[in-house]
Amino acid sequence: MNTATAVHKQTRQFTAVCEILKKHRNDRRQLIPILQQVQEVYRYLPPTIMSFIASTLRIPASRVYGAATFYRHFALKPKGKHVIRVCDGTACHVKGSGAIAETLRSHLKLNSGEDTTSDMLFTLETVSCLGACGIAPVMVVNETVHGQLSPAHACTIIDSIKKSEVRHD
Ligand code: FES
Repeated sequence: MNTATAVHKQTRQFTAVCEILKKHRNDRRQLIPILQQVQEVYRYLPPTIMSFIASTLRIPASRVYGAATFYRHFALKPKGKHVIRVCDGTACHVKGSGAIAETLRSHLKLNSGEDTTSDMLFTLETVSCLGACGIAPVMVVNETVHGQLSPAHACTIIDSIKKSEVRHD
């Protein structure tokens, strides 16, 4: 990447956060909604963007990092394009969600300690009750809820997303 391209990319990178800050009138009391919107755009909270937010709002960087690490909702690492959340609440656990998570983990070829595939297509997370215990075991892919799953069915869902990604290439 040449210097002009790098600068252009960096400028673009800050355009979105500047717009978000402007929308919130650089109001430090709006820190959480600002971080939420930043995460929607960037899919995580990049360190450079968090520092930029801190200096723009004139608050210590530690306060921004504190908020980002306090709420589980915030991601400090880039997430894949598709986020898979397997519920491991009690009802889902009893009905085999552990096997679903393990099967997906090996299906996605995730090594131990990894939660995002190397092609950045999928992130696999385990979460507590998603509020759909009646159709346990449950997983949510992006915003879509899938219930009464088996490990094989979960893999089929992921495979169909993969196929649609290949078609869009
Ligand atoms: S325990 Fe899984 S949806 Fe409630």
